[in-house]
Amino acid sequence: MDSFLIKGGVPLHGEVTISGSKNAVLPLMAATLLTADTCVIRNVPDLSDVRFMGKILESLGAEVKFADGTVTIRAAKVKGFGDYEMIRKMRGSICILGPLLARLREASVSLPGGCVIGTRPIDLHLKGLKALGAKLDIANGYINAKTKRLVGTMLFLGGRAGPTVLGTANIMMAATLAEGVTVIESAACEPEVCDVANFLVSMGAKITGIGSPTLTITGVDRLHGTDYEVIPDRIEACTFLCAAAATKGEVLVHGARPEHFAAVLDKLREAGVKVEPKAGALLVKSTARIKPTDVTTLPYAGFPTDVQAQFMALMCRAPGISVITERIFESRFMHVAELARLGAEISIEGPSAIVKGGRPLSGAPVMASDLRASAALVIAGLAATGTTQVHRIYHLDRGYERMEEKLRKLGARIERVEGE
Ligand code: EPU
Repeated sequence: MDSFLIKGGVPLHGEVTISGSKNAVLPLMAATLLTADTCVIRNVPDLSDVRFMGKILESLGAEVKFADGTVTIRAAKVKGFGDYEMIRKMRGSICILGPLLARLREASVSLPGGCVIGTRPIDLHLKGLKALGAKLDIANGYINAKTKRLVGTMLFLGGRAGPTVLGTANIMMAATLAEGVTVIESAACEPEVCDVANFLVSMGAKITGIGSPTLTITGVDRLHGTDYEVIPDRIEACTFLCAAAATKGEVLVHGARPEHFAAVLDKLREAGVKVEPKAGALLVKSTARIKPTDVTTLPYAGFPTDVQAQFMALMCRAPGISVITERIFESRFMHVAELARLGAEISIEGPSAIVKGGRPLSGAPVMASDLRASAALVIAGLAATGTTQVHRIYHLDRGYERMEEKLRKLGARIERVEGE
């Protein structure tokens, strides 16, 4: 298992370009199962999760070719029975259920596992498919779904923590080929969900209300191939903004869409970090003292849970108390114990982490537990004095394209150590 060796204390300086969005491209790839035609997706990040989704589609019979940031998928013939072990491993793979059911009217897909950030149920996915007329049963770890014909209906997809991102994408994909009109109330409004909707529209789907909590999908008989460019990764952009601010650097971030992360920009500014548009890019500058700032994660357009850990690493640099409250996932504080190894003082009170910022951070060996926790540890390691070794970097490779190369270009002293 690879690790990162970081010699910290160097402010990041220079320019970085943001890659395509992981959380958009995964359901987009699943959506290609809805047609027998060829679909071309551009601006695709080279990530282990994306390659893995390619393997899942291949195992279902699709042809998948990756080349120069483009993936070409042709699902001329597909089977509806997914490989148990493959699908179980990646949460995003639940998104193949809706398209397979809509296309084949029968599908069996393994239940995705829970993970360290929470139990991650799929009841809302199942509720939505049932409402469209699917008969579902769960046996031997598989979800078996069958239908004579999916039929449009009005359904409410809100859950205990608000809307569901992949659930909305899954049901929306299934509804594109259903008979009649489907109205999804309490739909997720995340830019990644809008990207899935726009992708489907480019395939001939009829969807209105994109970006709002009410999505209306009028079923069509068939969808066709498309050529589509995925949106930039707002979470990667925010990660670089936090890294630049935490190291008191100055970085020009290219290719991001600031309107996709207004809540994060607002909090960065509240923390005294300067972020301003410059020549079509975003310039982040943090020379002054960082101010403690309270943050609560919420569904879009609120502060994203996927930036909570990275922002916490930044708040470790802000003298004073910051309260960071996690409202989406019940146990997304695995990074807290590891940040403490670097000298951070953080306590957990229910859904909130209380950060006593401003303590000196010094390098130590730490363990990455999930994707965004890993990013937080890298940020803290870059800001700390001395050497930090972040173990289990495979979590990071799932969601950040060539992160160490991008950071090295910004002056960071970071190396990948293989097999440690
Ligand atoms: N939920 C339910 N029932 C369901 C589905 C979700 O109760 O059937 C709950 C979840 O337990 C959670 C909340 O609803 O409390 C929101 O979960 P959501 O379904 O929106 O999460 P997701 O779609 O499984 C995606 C991203 C996550 C990101 C969340 C929230 C992908 C592949 N994953 O997950 O990304 O944190 O939305 O924005 O798109 C990451 O990239 O690091 C990551 C974890």
